[in-house]
Amino acid sequence: MTKLVTGFLLLIICTTSFSQKNTNQRAEWFTHSRFGMFIHWGVYSGAEGYWKGEKLRNDNNYSEWLMYRNRIEMDEYVTLLKRFDWNELKPEEWVLLAKNSGMKYITITAKHHDGFGLWDSKVSDYDLGNYTNPRRDIIQEMADACKKHGIKLCLYYSHWIDWQHEYGWNHNREIYKLKPEEYDQYWQEKVIPQIKELLTNYGEISMMWFDMWIHHSNSIITKEQLLQLKNTIRELQPNCIVNSRLGLSLDEDPDVDYKTLGDNQLGSKKEDFPWQSPATVAHSWGFHSSDTNWKSTSSLLKALIGNVSLNGNLMLNIGPRANGEVPYEISNRMLEMGKWLNVNGEAIYGAEAFDLDKDLHDWGKITCKQDGNKFKIYLHVDNWPLNKKLHLTGISSSPEKVYLLADKEKKSLNFNYSKVFTEISLPYLQPDNYISVVVVEYNSKPEIVDGLVSKTVDGGYSLLPDNQFENDKSIVVEPLASSGTIPRHVVVNSNKTFIWKIYVDKVGEKNLDVSYSFQNQESAGDITVKISGKIFKHNIRPTGQTVAEPNEAWYIDNFRSNRVGTMNFAEKGFYTIEMIIEPQQKKEVNFQWLWVK
Ligand code: GLC
Repeated sequence: MTKLVTGFLLLIICTTSFSQKNTNQRAEWFTHSRFGMFIHWGVYSGAEGYWKGEKLRNDNNYSEWLMYRNRIEMDEYVTLLKRFDWNELKPEEWVLLAKNSGMKYITITAKHHDGFGLWDSKVSDYDLGNYTNPRRDIIQEMADACKKHGIKLCLYYSHWIDWQHEYGWNHNREIYKLKPEEYDQYWQEKVIPQIKELLTNYGEISMMWFDMWIHHSNSIITKEQLLQLKNTIRELQPNCIVNSRLGLSLDEDPDVDYKTLGDNQLGSKKEDFPWQSPATVAHSWGFHSSDTNWKSTSSLLKALIGNVSLNGNLMLNIGPRANGEVPYEISNRMLEMGKWLNVNGEAIYGAEAFDLDKDLHDWGKITCKQDGNKFKIYLHVDNWPLNKKLHLTGISSSPEKVYLLADKEKKSLNFNYSKVFTEISLPYLQPDNYISVVVVEYNSKPEIVDGLVSKTVDGGYSLLPDNQFENDKSIVVEPLASSGTIPRHVVVNSNKTFIWKIYVDKVGEKNLDVSYSFQNQESAGDITVKISGKIFKHNIRPTGQTVAEPNEAWYIDNFRSNRVGTMNFAEKGFYTIEMIIEPQQKKEVNFQWLWVK
């Protein structure tokens, strides 16, 4: 055992210095803020997803695409403005909603694809200044309200697509061609002058959010035009950050400030470069009266926490109605998030990814922060353990103190620490109805041991093809199939060895169960498990099939749990678990997991 432990300690990874790297100075406020509001509001808001009795065409159901999808002529489209209630409309209320929801910045659609400006533009008549009496300038009103309430103002500007300008881009140009010189006319007489207006007349604009989701080389827009646009921004407001949907790849211009993920695409891996997911509470960005697939508050909080735990931001959208009203289903969830952030914001603002694998623990996610001379790890627990014991695997330092973030008195929680395992005793009731945060404080950034399999909330170890100690590149994990009835597994048809490492914090006997599917009529081949010189052998058995649905001739291969043996873990410490699958005559075994408990 001692040998094992020493060998293991050598594998301790001394982690790199704290703080999200590659963040240029300009983007520092952004990575610190983590949570912002997106506002999609424009002429389309007056249609509420319907035009002349017909629902928005096209299944992507983005109501701001109404003009294009339902083939509406411009002069008819603007009649939608008659439905607007200009007396009721108070943009300051959107700003207050953002503030009370814990958001630090707002990005509003100054000009969406319909080409209609929400400000009083001298460059185009197609704007609110021209269609309201008394004149309204929503960008000015937003700038004033944001300033008053300490929120950063950011602008969405549709640069690539413009359905108003005769030479702007719309996808029909793939059929009805446009000459590059014509497109440049649109660019020089609308885009560049409007960007100049927006960055000159409204004080500080913290971010320009562009919206082109293909690379410029696949469209009419040129690299030169995009650079001209970016340089105009840099000249007028050097602190204004620009998102990657500008259309230049980071390789050709590393000066883009952050990466924008796809619509409603959450982070999947830790990245040092700043990034953000734009997200909706239901589906459409603009208000759509039949868009009712609301995400729950806890799933929205999980989206935010998940992104921050990978160094990302979340920008959550409101699609106000033509009178400015924000649907209750949206505002209610956002305000709930705000209440949560009021208590737990310390674990989000200025917090970042910790070094452990993002899916290591089954109770939730981890964020971290250097706070004065303390290093804090925040455990976002979305599954309060039934036995009130929280298992933290992989950190090889003892905490100084553990407490609930919701507890103003910071009353210490009891914990046991050994080698790489911290077991925290939780109170019976979780302090938050959604996600409770446990703070684990260290004197300095703790070291970690990477590659261990963690202990689950129910006290077992789930050894999977893809959580082996060393990343086995030869392994192909088959994804979930047949509506999830076929689990993730590895097809094994010749001898294959799997190796995992676990830390056992309590001595005693544990069962070893292996799950696989074996579609053969008879037993054939062996599975051998080796732990600390002990050998357990199992003869591979047929697992049969199950009828998934009656009379549908839909049969699925069974994955069954088989007892391989019972191991006495006589000492606390690290254990290497080796499993060898030896199929006979190349008869395929589909291995799912080895469960130790
Ligand atoms: C897409 C849509 C657009 C929406 C944006 C938000 O690009 O075209 O309507 O504004 O996503 O991320």
